[in-house]
Amino acid sequence: MTATVIDGKAFAAKVRAKVGEHVTRLKADHGLTPGLAVVLVGEDPASQVYVRSKGKMTVEVGMASFEHKLPADTSEDALLTLIDQLNNAPEVHGILVQLPLPAHLDSDLVINSIAPAKDVDGFHISNVGLLGTGQKSMVPCTPLGSLMMLRDHLGDLSGKSAVVIGRSNIVGKPMAQLLLGDSCTVTIAHSRTVDLPAVTRQADIVVAAVGRPQMVTGDWIKPGATVIDVGINRIDKPEGGTRLVGDCDYDSCAAVAGAITPVPGGVGPMTIACLLANTVTACCRANA
Ligand code: GUN
Repeated sequence: MTATVIDGKAFAAKVRAKVGEHVTRLKADHGLTPGLAVVLVGEDPASQVYVRSKGKMTVEVGMASFEHKLPADTSEDALLTLIDQLNNAPEVHGILVQLPLPAHLDSDLVINSIAPAKDVDGFHISNVGLLGTGQKSMVPCTPLGSLMMLRDHLGDLSGKSAVVIGRSNIVGKPMAQLLLGDSCTVTIAHSRTVDLPAVTRQADIVVAAVGRPQMVTGDWIKPGATVIDVGINRIDKPEGGTRLVGDCDYDSCAAVAGAITPVPGGVGPMTIACLLANTVTACCRANA
């Protein structure tokens, strides 16, 4: 079997176009411009790329972008003061603090200081609890984008067996909650899982979110299964230079799977599109 390629880039462009239409209506009918504030502490090169890309796309859909770049040695007090200002700024509807933060900052404390209604990442403990109990919340962007692609490709997910590889708070755990919400039978696998390939071979849906380049190979995949590759890893090319790969070995997985997301061009663009959609949602809820 040769897998269908799930084109996250094209899907994300459609989502962003819809977000753009929504923004246009909010401006025209209600005089509202959704605003997203992104806070970056330090100079991590990958984070800088993400933040630039987020800012660009925020503006492209007609929203206001507020970027706050702080030095790596910013104190916790200074960061908390900025977040407090953003929490109270009426033109800011969404706040994202780029992770990872420098080691001297307590990420949990910082994330939980964001007003839950403005927490467009869905990382605040209150949003985590709401999602876990099936209540209306802000949903983390990468799992949300992955779920949208799964629904688009498979339709009803009810009764499907899903294995999520990775138990992070950003992807693995919320992904499992979302799949459970869609009535999948969900397994969360991780570094201590015994015979991981045997576990994934049972799955109709495999979501790989471990951060290990090309770890999942075709022999781990049930023929016809749908594979969502959340990984973004930079590896050296034999001929020199680097390239981006996922957590799945694309060629061997695509030979067995029914459908697969590529890296790049799969989950990545959907994450940003969902961030923009969450910001519009936050703006609408704030003004309901
Ligand atoms: N770093 C890597 N992914 C994410 C994300 O989805 N949100 C934030 N805030 N930081 C990240």
